[in-house]
Amino acid sequence: MSERQKVWVSQPLFDDIVARLHDHFDVVQVPEVSEHDSATIAAALRDVDGALVTLNERVGAKEIAEASKLRAVANVGVGYNNLDVAALHARGIVATNTPDVLTETTADFGFALMMAAARRVTEAERHLRAGKWQGWNFKGLLGADLHGSTLGILGMGRIGQGIARRASGFDMRVLYHNRTRLPADIERDCRAEYVDFDMLFARADHLVLVLPYSAENHHIVDAAALAKMQPTATLTNIARGGIVDETALADALANGRLASAALDVFEGEPTVNPRLLALDNIVLTPHIASGSLATRRAMVDLAVDNLIAALGAGPDAGHPPTPISTGTKDAKRPGTA
Ligand code: DGY
Repeated sequence: MSERQKVWVSQPLFDDIVARLHDHFDVVQVPEVSEHDSATIAAALRDVDGALVTLNERVGAKEIAEASKLRAVANVGVGYNNLDVAALHARGIVATNTPDVLTETTADFGFALMMAAARRVTEAERHLRAGKWQGWNFKGLLGADLHGSTLGILGMGRIGQGIARRASGFDMRVLYHNRTRLPADIERDCRAEYVDFDMLFARADHLVLVLPYSAENHHIVDAAALAKMQPTATLTNIARGGIVDETALADALANGRLASAALDVFEGEPTVNPRLLALDNIVLTPHIASGSLATRRAMVDLAVDNLIAALGAGPDAGHPPTPISTGTKDAKRPGTA
């Protein structure tokens, strides 16, 4: 009888779903939420055929250097900047992610954050909880409307399109910028108009970032980009922290160059830039955009399917894995998420 393949599961996920891996593999399950450094990841991968990892685990050339049996890495997440896909592909290792299943949940949350920034929801709650509310105040905590305003979306993939579709219920005009312009039927469906990068920043009343992170997109939202925005505008980031220069953002929020912002992602996660923490006109959440119970379960389910399929393990390998393919990324022409 041939030896069973072995897989590493880097974090506790949902046991009842991960249990499906036990039907096919010997599973090494990390029992508690853990921060794995590079050496720990390398040691865990040294002796396994496959791995189920989250965005907390960086897997690159160094981590796979001694992983001679490794054939598949299944990422539980649509964003995969934690994986060096080129290094994995160079070694013939399949890398997969979990698109689609989180699209609507993440779009919901992007919309929620944008509304919270525009209407100062968390700032108002802090005000109330701090006992500062002295009575109904006609001009207190005034915000900006979403209805009838212009929404800008940078990165018009599945999630960006989901946000655009939601915007029509709010009677918003939707502008977008993307690496490639969408086909006319999708633009029509999303009621979205394609504009260039500068125009997007200049025209948006509410700008949402939904583009995948790559080295080319690092700090694509810098002081120069922020300076193009209207001082009454809001900025929401549900993509990856590295897309925004947080120091430039803190400056813009502190000096009135930008009305407010909402961030679900941070450059140094889980550390948050103290200058952002000190500001009132910003909504801060701990990377939870895809975090509904149903969606987090669906992500694990798909990642488990992907790993089974990529390792060709038995009849349950019923669907093809969702492999990550890499394209050329251009800083001013963001791709899709
Ligand atoms: C993703 O899937 O990329 C999210 O950021 C993780 O929830």
